Amino acid sequence: MRAFVTGAAGFIGSHLVEHLLEVGHEVVALDDLSTGSIDNLREVSDHPALQFHRGSVLDADLVDDLTAGADTVFHLAAAVGAFVVRDRTVEGIRVNVHGTDVVLEAARRHGARLLVASSSEVYGKNTKIGLREDDDRIVGSPLMHRWSYSEAKALDESLVSASVEAFGMHGVIARLFNTVGPRQTGLYGMVVPRFVAQALAGEPLTVFGSGEQIRCFCHVLDVVPALVALAACDEATGRAVNIGRSEPVSIDELARRVIARTGSSSTIERHTYEEIYGRGYEDLQRRVPDCGLAEWLLGFRPARDLDDVIDSVVADQLGRRPAMTRPA
Ligand SMILES: NC(=O)c1ccc[n+]([C@@H]2O[C@H](COP(=O)([O-])OP(=O)(O)OC[C@H]3O[C@@H](n4cnc5c(N)ncnc54)[C@H](O)[C@@H]3O)[C@@H](O)[C@H]2O)c1
Repeated sequence: MRAFVTGAAGFIGSHLVEHLLEVGHEVVALDDLSTGSIDNLREVSDHPALQFHRGSVLDADLVDDLTAGADTVFHLAAAVGAFVVRDRTVEGIRVNVHGTDVVLEAARRHGARLLVASSSEVYGKNTKIGLREDDDRIVGSPLMHRWSYSEAKALDESLVSASVEAFGMHGVIARLFNTVGPRQTGLYGMVVPRFVAQALAGEPLTVFGSGEQIRCFCHVLDVVPALVALAACDEATGRAVNIGRSEPVSIDELARRVIARTGSSSTIERHTYEEIYGRGYEDLQRRVPDCGLAEWLLGFRPARDLDDVIDSVVADQLGRRPAMTRPA
């Protein structure tokens, strides 16, 4: 298979590229390096089956060229992270809506299978335990920038689903819940790498809001093979499929677990949402998936638990530090 991966130098994209190369595929990779880093691909930078291109999914000619000859397109490029949504709202909406349209149109024109990475953010404030793919979206006003990522991903999903129906193309939506692992950065609002960095530095772990918010974290190495299987799955065409782990943990408990697993002397410090995101920010109180569809379609069952997730992020961050600063 020849795969075209957008967002290839990002956290999930770089693991996907490594996996595709490992199982013998050719990979054409695109990233504008806005939140990703070329360093994420250093393990495979000399691989003869990898071609990397720096550029944007908004460049329709480039995307069309790179899609030619691809059997499967994995569209992961997006403006991601609560701080990116807060600070680069307009750019984020354009990339997340128009960028997907550009990639979808190229995949359609070249007859490639398409997988689009969507997000559990589409469920918005729906707190149901065991969210299923056809559950309602509950979101706030579109004038609150906080919802623009959710709106954009929802529109992407509608575009994929309608295009499958209208053009008979193969398109599938991976609705990802919190995905974590090595190389994820805490710079743009992701909680696990931020907590780990704070714990390793002996700084307070900064919990935003009450700390009672519930999330479920899935290891990226469980997610990536599921993306590849989903793209190849004919029965999944036109569907959105939840990919995640359903073991819930509160953010307070997560902070305590990170402190325990790192043996850190850090304390926990609370901040209001307003202090961090400005006025009018709403958080989601609970986000727990039902992944029964992924299990039924793909046999998907994540093998790694939360401690594995935390340990792998700790090892990754220690590995990136200069040797002198590593604990004995
Ligand atoms: N990590 C998660 O928990 C999570 C959860 C739900 C959905 N997702 C989705 O998974 C995908 C990958 O996310 P990630 O966590 O790896 O984030 P990431 O920020 O590491 O990856 C996104 C990549 O897209 C690139 N990019 C951004 N704009 C681009 C553009 N215009 N052209 C080309 N490249 C561009 C970035 O440089 C980055 O490398 C995204 O679509 C995201 O919405 C991630």
